[in-house]
Amino acid sequence: MFSKLTQLPADPILGLSVKFKADINPNKIDLGAGIYKDESGHTPVLSCVKTAERFRLENENSKAYLGSAGSALFNEKMTALILGDHKVISANRIRTISTPGGTGALRTAGEFIKTCTPGATIWVSNPTWANHQGVFTAAGLNVKTYPYYDYENNCLDFDGMLAALKEVSKDDAVLLHACCHNPSGMDLSKEQWQQVADVAKQVGFMPVVDMAYQGFGQDLDADAFGLRLMADTVDQMIICSSCSKNFGLYRERIGACSIIGKDSISADIINSVLLSVVRVNYSMPPAHGAAIVETILSSAELTTQWHGELKEMRDRINGMRQLLVEQLAANGVTRDFSFITKQNGMFSFLGIDKAQVQRLQDEFSIYIVGSSRISLAGISPDNVNYLTQSIAKVL
Ligand code: LMR
Repeated sequence: MFSKLTQLPADPILGLSVKFKADINPNKIDLGAGIYKDESGHTPVLSCVKTAERFRLENENSKAYLGSAGSALFNEKMTALILGDHKVISANRIRTISTPGGTGALRTAGEFIKTCTPGATIWVSNPTWANHQGVFTAAGLNVKTYPYYDYENNCLDFDGMLAALKEVSKDDAVLLHACCHNPSGMDLSKEQWQQVADVAKQVGFMPVVDMAYQGFGQDLDADAFGLRLMADTVDQMIICSSCSKNFGLYRERIGACSIIGKDSISADIINSVLLSVVRVNYSMPPAHGAAIVETILSSAELTTQWHGELKEMRDRINGMRQLLVEQLAANGVTRDFSFITKQNGMFSFLGIDKAQVQRLQDEFSIYIVGSSRISLAGISPDNVNYLTQSIAKVL
């Protein structure tokens, strides 16, 4: 059976991390995967997470199964984090389950959509996270793209996006990035969110909002603005969220899939289908990451500490956006890169071609995704000069 297999290329994002680790150049820079790094290039465990872990170690008294939905307390806390005090919560119209990371939430959402509408299409932005296409295809959906980013002018192609969304079928799903668009860093304005929500209501497609970077844009509430507006406007929607980045829990694999129904009875039906989708896949989610998050969010003191640590990560990345643009100019680059300072979250497109991306890797040990997406979190005051000099050379 295995003799029929052929070698597959490495994942476009994860493959870079493997190459970066193996590189012996002391000047190497990793701008690949979306992982926060401090100024010394280290991805720290947040202090609030350490405290919560110590608490759990002392207080956890069973490892019995939690069931396919995971921890009820985590699910409740995550729903509030995502939606605030939104009316869908008081109306009992939302059901949230814990999932193995944000990717697990997306895969579960995909399979849920396929169960509702076999042969459904999900529309994703062009460009989108490199793994969206694969996850939804594996879940049995057709994947198509709508225009999103104008590569020539480094801005949104909002007219193109809106026109395309008006043409999708009412049985289709449309994936939207809540904030910190991955890979472009270019988000919708409040007015644009309103227009997209109006089109969703008018056409009747299913909005699927992916929120992997809550807290990395403006702040926790502002980053959820569009998603909450969508929930004000439509009767039904799906939200996939992740605790990988904002709680720094990457390898613990914890996220959530939340589904809003038109009333509490339909929410119960949705929940039963969601649980059956999970049961035949991974059966039950891992518990450790959820336990950390619910411990933090149940303590006012730890929540305040978490807000501070999240702000520190966000401010550092935004500082690097500014520094990168300044240093490019200081190293003689005349092309206008000021768009980088207008974007949100970890990512931006440099707008260089594939050959230039490859040269940065081969000649300078600078690792960037082939689309020219950079993770700003890999930049520091110590490496920005080498980075910008290298970019100047390949330009
Ligand atoms: C990224 O886009 O770099 C992150 O979401 C990590 C991943 O899983 O691809």
